[in-house]
Amino acid sequence: MIGTRGTRAESDDRDLSALVEEFFRTTFATDNLLITEAVRRMLAAGGKRLRPRLTLLAAEANGADPREHLALAAYMELIHVGTLIHDDVVDRADTRRGVNATAIDYGNRVSVLAGDYLFAWIFKNVTANYPAPVPHILSSTLAAITDGEVLQLRALGDLDLPLSQYLEVVVKKTASLFSASAECGAIMAGAESSRVKALRDFGRHFGIAFQMLDDLLDVTADESEIGKPVGNDLRERKITIPLILALEDGSREVRGEIERYYRTGPEQGERPAELRRLSELILAAGGARKTREAIADYVERAKSALAPLGATPARLELAALADGLARDSVARTR
Ligand code: IPE
Ligand code: IPE
Ligand code: MG
Ligand code: MG
Repeated sequence: MIGTRGTRAESDDRDLSALVEEFFRTTFATDNLLITEAVRRMLAAGGKRLRPRLTLLAAEANGADPREHLALAAYMELIHVGTLIHDDVVDRADTRRGVNATAIDYGNRVSVLAGDYLFAWIFKNVTANYPAPVPHILSSTLAAITDGEVLQLRALGDLDLPLSQYLEVVVKKTASLFSASAECGAIMAGAESSRVKALRDFGRHFGIAFQMLDDLLDVTADESEIGKPVGNDLRERKITIPLILALEDGSREVRGEIERYYRTGPEQGERPAELRRLSELILAAGGARKTREAIADYVERAKSALAPLGATPARLELAALADGLARDSVARTR
C-alpha cells in the first residue's frame, strides 16, 4: 500500500512540476518586453517552486484536479519572484538561483520597476479572474511581506532583538506567502472552512521552519549549493535565528566578538575569512543545533495542522515536504 502510494505520489509530483513549468513557458508574458524578459530569466534559472506546489497539493487534498489550478499556482510563484527581485536590491545580493541577481544584469532602477510592474500585473489578473476572498488574501500577503522586510531592515544590527520580534518578521516576510499559497488552493477547491484553516496553518508553520532553515544555510552552506551568496545575512548585520540562539547561550567572549563586528556597518567591507570565522563562532555556540530543534518543532506543528484533512496522498506529500525541511536541517548540523 505504502509502495503504491509512493509510486503514485512520485509520478504525480513529476507531472505537476512539469505542468507548472509548461504553464510558465507557454503562457507567461506581460505587455512590457523588458520586464517579461527579466522575469523569464529568473524563472528559467530554476528555483524549488515550493509555493505553487503547496497551492496544487492543497487543491488536490480537497478533491480538486490540480491541473485546473495551474494559473493560481503560477501567480504564487510570480509573487515570490517579484519579492526576490526586490529583496536582492534591499539585501545587496549579487546572485540568485545560480545566476546574476536581476539588479546585476538590469540595474537597481529596472529591478524596482520590474517588481512593481509584476505585482500590479498579477493583481490585475487575479482581481479579474478570482472570486473573494482570493484577491484580498493575495494583496494582504504582499502588504505583510513588505511590512516584514521593512521591520527586518529596522532591526538590522540589534543584537537584543527578542525572539518574538524575529518571529514577527519571519511570519510576515516568508510564512505569509506559504500560508496564502496553501489557503488559496483549498479555497479554489471549494473546501469547507475547517479544511481551509488547516492548510492556512500548515503553510504558516511550514514557512517559519523554511525561513529558519534558510537562515541556517547562510552560515552552513556553500554558494554553489544554494545559488545565492552565503554569509550575506552577517554582512548585512541581519538578526537571524542561529545568531539569536547562539547569543542566548554563548559566552561573554562570543557576544563580545559578535558585538564588535555588528557595530561596524556593511560599508566597511569584510573578507570572506571574517564571515567564515563569525559563522563558526555561531555554530560553536550552539546556534545551529538549537535552530535545528526549532525547525523540528515548527515542522511538527505544520504536520499536526493537517489532521482535519484525512490520509490522502496529497496530504502525505505536504507532510513529506515539511519532513524534508527537518531532514535538511539535520544534514546541515551533523
Ligand atoms: C528564497 O526562497 C526566499 C526565502 C523566503 C528564504 P526559496 O528558497 O524558495 O527560493 P527559490 O524559489 O527556491 O529560488
Ligand atoms: C526572504 O528572506 C525575503 C523575501 C521575502 C524574499 P531572505 O532575504 O533571507 O531570502 P534570501 O536568503 O535572500 O533568499
Ligand atoms: Mg535576501
Ligand atoms: Mg536568507
